[in-house]
Amino acid sequence: MVTSENQKTYMITTFGCQMNERDSETIAGMLSELGYIEGSSNKTADVVIINTCSVRENADKRFFGTLGQLKKIKEGRPDFVVGVCGCMMQQQHIIDEIKQKYPWVDIIFGTHNINELPKLIESVVSEKTKRIEILEDGGDIIEGLPAKRLYPFKAFVNIMYGCDNFCTYCVVPYTRGRERSRKAEDILLEVRQLAADGVKEITLLGQNVNSYKGTEEIGFTELIYMLNEVEGIERIRFMTSHPKDLSDKLISAYSECKKLCNHIHLPVQSGSSKILASMNRKYTKEEYLELIEKVKKTSPEIAITTDIIVGFPGETEADFEETLDLVRQVEFDSAFTFLYSIRKGTPAENYEDQIPEEIKHKRFNRLVDMLNEITLKKNKAYEGRKEKVLVEGLSKTNKEVYTGRTESFKLVNFESATDVSGKVVDINITEGKTFNLFGKLV
Ligand code: 5AD
Ligand code: SF4
Repeated sequence: MVTSENQKTYMITTFGCQMNERDSETIAGMLSELGYIEGSSNKTADVVIINTCSVRENADKRFFGTLGQLKKIKEGRPDFVVGVCGCMMQQQHIIDEIKQKYPWVDIIFGTHNINELPKLIESVVSEKTKRIEILEDGGDIIEGLPAKRLYPFKAFVNIMYGCDNFCTYCVVPYTRGRERSRKAEDILLEVRQLAADGVKEITLLGQNVNSYKGTEEIGFTELIYMLNEVEGIERIRFMTSHPKDLSDKLISAYSECKKLCNHIHLPVQSGSSKILASMNRKYTKEEYLELIEKVKKTSPEIAITTDIIVGFPGETEADFEETLDLVRQVEFDSAFTFLYSIRKGTPAENYEDQIPEEIKHKRFNRLVDMLNEITLKKNKAYEGRKEKVLVEGLSKTNKEVYTGRTESFKLVNFESATDVSGKVVDINITEGKTFNLFGKLV
């Protein structure tokens, strides 16, 4: 990158989910409009923004670690602007901690007002003030914010914000506020523009996408049907959905909408109906299994992935065995597994029967071993198949091979003499491993 000496630069560090990644694209877009370009190091950047996640304690710790590292830079260059935002900033105890231990942070803003960042930066730079601007809950959705997107050929599209489910372990309903859906016509406009810009794959984002409610007539499934008609878009995905909102209509959309990818991420969290009730998940083990059966019946080839929490308060050995049993029955293609992490302000924080860390870890390892075995078996079944792969570019870990995803979201590595980034190519799968597939370009 050629930069003049006076060119102001920014760096953004993003923790957490795709919603945060998408927010960081907006932040990058706003900084670009202010005349900043992306820099190469925090040490030399004029503005550093840290977009935080509060879903588990680990993310909190990593944020404070990053902040600690910035302290030295700030001491050497007082004009260097440090801004922090995202879910953690929607919690008063975090704001208090930053004010007390990291008083040199210049800007603190929340999840509901990232649109105010340009104004905040300008006032910090020109008036040398500090700014803390947090809104308690989201007001109207602001359309038309700029974005500097990470990829030219695939894009995240927010369709709704917030969550009303109040799972008892989860901080999101407090940090992201009540559910609010974008208007279908605004989403359609954005997706048409993305297609015109060369985007082939869109991922519809929301904490709970399938409870999307555009109008009385346009719910999530109707939105999928609408987007399926947008010329140029070849693949539609969505993240993340709640089993209670997985309607028969949506299940049928998998066979009727050609562009809807052959993959569903359906977080189960636990296989014990007792724990599911205590988590306020609003379904039982049996109901989840029935849903999966319906999905598999309509789309036998579909890949199913999930999220599972181990060691929720009150989880007995028998409850954990129920989770293993469910995993065995569903045979997930892969799963994100989490150790239960106490979150301040959530109901489960005060549950009495918290599980000792040692037991949590032992159960976690047993679960991961079982999941890896199943994933390997599922991936081996791809050997000999021809798959359409949307190529993301050279692999980050091995620059000799390209990497991309099948419709079913499997990661595939393969060699190519020409740059096929951004293209959909046919790959003959030669080997299925636990974490990826290998193949040959057709
Ligand atoms: N502890 C552990 N995992 C959690 N998740 C959400 N809150 C917690 C918590 N307190 C997990 C859930 C969710 C995923 C995004 O993070 O599995 O689906
Ligand atoms: Fe959290 Fe549950 Fe909402 Fe997902 S559905 S964001 S786990 S409260």
